Amino acid sequence: MSGRHASNGGRRHLLSIGDLGAGGIREILRLADSFAEVNTRAIPKVPALRGRTVASLFFEDSTRTRLSFETAAKRLSADTMTFSAGASALSKGESLRDTAETVAAMGVDCTVVRHRSAGVAVQLSRWLDGSVINAGDGCHEHPTQALLDCYTITERLGGIEGRHVAIVGDIAHSRVARSLVAALQLLGAGVTLVAPATLLPPATDGWGVKVSSRIDAILPRADVVYLLRLQRERQERALLPSLREFHERFGLTAERAGRLADHAIVMHPGPMNRGVEIGAEVPEMDCAVVAEQVANGVSVRMAVLFWLLGAEPGAMAAPAADASGTPEPAPAAEVGDG
Ligand code: NCD
Repeated sequence: MSGRHASNGGRRHLLSIGDLGAGGIREILRLADSFAEVNTRAIPKVPALRGRTVASLFFEDSTRTRLSFETAAKRLSADTMTFSAGASALSKGESLRDTAETVAAMGVDCTVVRHRSAGVAVQLSRWLDGSVINAGDGCHEHPTQALLDCYTITERLGGIEGRHVAIVGDIAHSRVARSLVAALQLLGAGVTLVAPATLLPPATDGWGVKVSSRIDAILPRADVVYLLRLQRERQERALLPSLREFHERFGLTAERAGRLADHAIVMHPGPMNRGVEIGAEVPEMDCAVVAEQVANGVSVRMAVLFWLLGAEPGAMAAPAADASGTPEPAPAAEVGDG
């Protein structure tokens, strides 16, 4: 494995997909498989990271990414600490660095950070002693989302190599798209970006993707249709004539979803805007795997935390022990949905 995670006195970070390379992605997806099994147990918890502390620093709103990291850390028996920008001393003028160092001074092994500015995760990895995970930095990267998406595609379609993924919607402002395109290319998928010119990044030459403005021409050849919402909080000017027109030209309506190949899947990182990029009834159709993406996110983030922070050999095998060292009761039987 190459990249930044291997430097800095042996501390690993997950800042971008490029840091991981194809080998690192495959290693995390393999680990995620083991944790998916843990998540089917009646007590979905292992002592792998007991005694470690994971802090979540979210300077931007989040529902699933934040809850997913917290759940993942708890299922590995780590202690967790949560910071919300709105309820913090930021409003009293404290700087990002002082805020991050204050949290780190409480003894943190891993900091999960989301921020509206690109580059904040890299900056924190230089300032803090522990590992840093980028949970989304501006329009730049969101590597754990790309990993959980790759896991979901592999689970549903049996592999990624040679598959055709159409990414549709506001690509210009999407950190999800940047990380996903990088991961899909490392794993050998073909990608077509489908969007009006105003929602494409200024230059896609270096991206190694095809570009189209005609969703109807792309759908029959797609194995995966990946939808992105209009990220209006990041748009500095009006980029579309109207939401209705966007829905008509680029939205995945139920009628369009009905024209997909039988095996094709529809993905969305959330939050969805039903009736805009996705037809109101599409998330409930059989081709949609949005809920699976969320469920897989926990296993993948457990894999990432374990990969960064390590553990004693065999730590995953046993159920978690409580504070007194007494093992929690073993499940009576393996269950499907723990
Ligand atoms: C995305 C994000 O925040 O980058 N959501 C997510 O993490 N699941 C996508 C978005 O906000 O549209």
